[in-house]
Amino acid sequence: MPEKKIIAVVGATGAQGSGLVRAIMNEPDGGFTARAITRNVDSPKAQELAALGVEVVAADLDDVSSLERAFDGAYGAYCVTFFWEHFSPEKEIQHATNMATAAKTMGVQHVIWSTLEDTRRWVPLDDDRMPTLMGSYKVPHFDAKGESDHVFPDLGVPTTFLLTSFYWDNLVHFGMGPKEDPDGNLTLTMPMGEGKLPGIAAEDIGRAAYAIFKRGDELIGQTVAVAGEHLTGEEMAAALARAFGREVRYNAIEPEVYRGLGFPGAEDLGNMFQFYRDFEDVFCSRRDMIAARALLPSLQTFDSWLSKNANQIPRE
Ligand SMILES: NC(=O)c1ccc[n+]([C@@H]2O[C@H](COP(=O)([O-])OP(=O)(O)OC[C@H]3O[C@@H](n4cnc5c(N)ncnc54)[C@H](OP(=O)(O)O)[C@@H]3O)[C@@H](O)[C@H]2O)c1
Repeated sequence: MPEKKIIAVVGATGAQGSGLVRAIMNEPDGGFTARAITRNVDSPKAQELAALGVEVVAADLDDVSSLERAFDGAYGAYCVTFFWEHFSPEKEIQHATNMATAAKTMGVQHVIWSTLEDTRRWVPLDDDRMPTLMGSYKVPHFDAKGESDHVFPDLGVPTTFLLTSFYWDNLVHFGMGPKEDPDGNLTLTMPMGEGKLPGIAAEDIGRAAYAIFKRGDELIGQTVAVAGEHLTGEEMAAALARAFGREVRYNAIEPEVYRGLGFPGAEDLGNMFQFYRDFEDVFCSRRDMIAARALLPSLQTFDSWLSKNANQIPRE
């Protein structure tokens, strides 16, 4: 039997990476095996992966030589950065550069780079529809990823660019679920007006990445976008109401109100939602549902994701 191709997975204990690790391990005859990269091989999440039979190795995106060791002998690498760990776009760009450098040095044959739009292409810094943040960004956690796209091809690393979408899991883990207003009405608040939001089950990003690796070199050099569904706030609230068995109202506040909510990242997310709303055509057309389902026919819809996860969504 031919040796299995190793896919080194950055963020293997996180939302995107764990979806990929599990997709690979769920198909023992698929020709691939996963190498999980974590800063702490003893953490409960890392141990959970080890119990599945996954090789778990230590590396830190700050440390190129640790990445080189983690990529050694790997056919492929899944590369993602972690804005919400440090809130620094410059650090994301450095981390992308470190991964590209290690992939080049170790001769990785296929990198999937998890990216998002550089919104400054559509909203230049002098466009005052939304404020410039952190000196030179509009949506820092998007822009830094898009700005990093070039580092992989610049180094000659064979790369597929995976454009991701809003995780529905944010309703569970990121405090974005419906909340009760003072009158006891359950309310989903998003500053999106009537715009459509391309969303996805986070684990499906990893499952889509696996489908890309399985295509061999067919998608190298290409941008592949994934979303499970494009839904308005009203449609999301209606789906939540069906899942909860009680009314959920959509509350479309203005982006500037959202930016002022005061939690860490509120300005970044306010600009992000405004970008979705004001550039719905750009954002949705790049995430073509037919192409995404052709890549991964089992992509979950919001309803199918809710059927498994609605009970985890806080609703206080
Ligand atoms: N939330 C959304 O809707 C959404 C949508 C699209 C894209 N994104 C982007 O997704 C990215 C986060 O990915 P995720 O959601 O899969 O992550 P996550 O679930 O938040 O998990 C964080 C991961 O980061 C790893 N990590 C953090 N710092 C590290 C470092 N210095 N070196 C190595 N590993 C490090 C952690 O591993 P250990 O702790 O085990 O070391 C962990 O696996 C963000 O940049 C975000 O902008 C989010």
